[in-house]
Order: sequence, then C-alpha cells, then structure tokens
Amino acid sequence: MSSAQNTSFHEIETVLLDDRDSAIVIIDQTRLPGECITVSLHTQAEIHDAIYRLCVRGAPAIGITAGMAYYLAAKEHLTAHPDMDADTLSSCLAKDKAYMASARPTAVNLFWALDRMERVYLANRTKPNPDILSVLRAECEEIREEDIRVCRAIGEYGLSLVKPGDGILTHCNAGRLAAAKYGTATAPIYLGEERGYHFRVFADETRPLLQGARLTAYELHAAGVDVTLICDNMSAAVMKQGLIQAVFVGCDRVAANGDTANKIGTSVVACVAKEYGVPVYICAPTATIDMNCPTGADIPIEERKPEEVTELWYETRMAPDSVKVYNPAFDVTDHTLIAGIVTEYGVARPPYKEAFEAIFAEKERRRV
Ligand code: MRU
Repeated sequence: MSSAQNTSFHEIETVLLDDRDSAIVIIDQTRLPGECITVSLHTQAEIHDAIYRLCVRGAPAIGITAGMAYYLAAKEHLTAHPDMDADTLSSCLAKDKAYMASARPTAVNLFWALDRMERVYLANRTKPNPDILSVLRAECEEIREEDIRVCRAIGEYGLSLVKPGDGILTHCNAGRLAAAKYGTATAPIYLGEERGYHFRVFADETRPLLQGARLTAYELHAAGVDVTLICDNMSAAVMKQGLIQAVFVGCDRVAANGDTANKIGTSVVACVAKEYGVPVYICAPTATIDMNCPTGADIPIEERKPEEVTELWYETRMAPDSVKVYNPAFDVTDHTLIAGIVTEYGVARPPYKEAFEAIFAEKERRRV
C-alpha cells in the first residue's frame, strides 16, 4: 500500500482504478477532515482491510471498489500464471470473491458488484486471457461511470421534492465521498446548489464514527453549501423550530417492502420526523434495493468493535473499563416512516413492493 500527501479535495476522486499500477486509488476517509490523502491499494488483503476499516465506505463506493477488486484479482492471477486454465481461474476468482464479500455485511452493493463482475467473467471465461481482462476492466469502469449517472438522476428526482431555501437534514455521509461523484442523499443538494436553490443543510454528526461531521460537513462546506453541523440528539430541536422541510438520507440496503437499513441513528431521525410532519426520503440507487430481502428483519446488521464507542476520538477512554457496549453500525427504518424512495428511475411511493416492480420494469426498458 502506498500513499500520496495532502491533495485538494476537489482535484481527486473518491475511488479510481489505476490500471498501470494495478491498484485502486482511494481517498483515505479515516484521515478526513484533517488530511486529504490518497492511498493505492494493490492486494486483495489491502482492499479488504480498506473496506473493513472504512477508509473507503458508503454503499456505492464500496460497490465500485469491489468491482475493481474483482478485476485486479483476475489480472493478478493471469499475470502470475499466464497459462492458467479456465477452471483454475474460476475457482481462484470464486475464492477471491468470497473473501471480498466478507469485508462488510450490510451494504448490498458489495455483493451486487461482485455478482455483476462474476456474471461478466462467466460469460467470457472461454475467451483468450487479454479479452477476459479487457471485459472485466470495462465492466468495473462502467460500474463507476454508471454510479455518476445514477446519482445525477436521483438528484433530479430528489430536487423535485423540495423548494429553494428549504432546510434539509441528512444523517451519516451519503455524499460524494460515499459514491463516485454527486453522492445519493447529497445529489439533490449539489444540483440545487448549481441552480441557486440555496438550501440550508443540517448534518447530523453521526456517532460513533462521525461520518456526518468528518465527511458530510467537510464535503458540503468545501463545495460552498450552507451546512450546519448538529449532534445526533438535536434533530428534534431543529425540526420543532421549523428549520427542516425534508430529510434526505442514503441507504445500505432496501428490502422489498421498503424497510431501509442505513447508518445507525437513521431510524431515530425518521421517528422524530414523523412527530413533526417532516417527510423522509431515502435516496437509493436500484443497486441498493434487494428484492431477495423481504423485510428489514432479513437484512444482516454489522456489529463493530466496542472501542469505536468507548475511546475512538477521545483523548482518554470515556467509559468504565469492561462495561458492556452494543455497537450496531446500522439500523432499519420501517417503511411506514418513509415518504418516498428516490431511485434513478423515479420516486417510489408506498406500497413499495409494487412500486419497486414498476421501477425495475422501467430499468429494463431504459438504462440510466
Ligand atoms: O459505515 P458506513 O460509513 O459505510 O455507512 C454509510 C452509510 O450508512 C451511508 O448512509 C450509506 O452507505 C449510503 S451512501 C450513499
């Protein structure tokens, strides 16, 4: 793994394939906002570790990284063993895929991207090695390019739900740092900024890993958006004062009934929003909708290390030694609390199962 020194945030991409160096170049998000540093990930172990440690994070960015990881795995095998037969390569890639899939459990984009790459590989496995590599490279680049188009389309639909000057609350980071360009929940905000909407954005700091403070406040502030940072327990106060007209959040997996897993604390925001009559919109690329998951109860929820709660960010530990800690990284917002799910093919409204079927039918007709 190699790293490059402080660069301007505006000049670098969240995730990029550097084919010449056989590496994935990411912004190391664990160093933000203090340092904006890129790291080059060469091996499958380095990529897995970067996903697990949240150096690269956010559902779409994880998917993009996983797609590139699959391509690099194939390239590594075929470079080391140019005569490798198709069966051996298939079994090596199946192992690599299972290893990468074990990096994090909740964001379905990880599995979605790996499955997509595997399908392309299997369809081309009998071709000459250079052809296999070139289709895999094209596919992982397409996953990234597609994310940009998808997020922009989500931004357009999201923008139709709000008015200039509105207050928007967001939780965690579903921004440019969680995707390739516009982000999902921030796409309406960035498009609105381009068109003079002048939203007032409130960013929850998002305990325990502070993605809202370190990443959302950072990137929106750097883009000149009017952003105010609040602690997670302040959403009721700002909503009660009438400062919020809509909540836009991202998601890690949406179940077929519309239940949505997103960063821990999202469901608290949704409950508060219901109390104050504020609509909650989930910004969801169709890649994040898992029709194989009937309800939120079927979504695996990642549990992370207690130290993220007890000591990370503090100068000294802020909890008694050996106290019990529960640290789920995500929660599920019940579909009844969600006003709409904004996809690249339009806004799904309840009942969600039927609405998603229509959205996927539309996806079959025209590809974003
Ligand atoms: O643990 P993280 O930082 O990967 O969690 C990220 C979130 O929960 C985001 O809100 C979600 O992935 C949507 S990103 C467009």
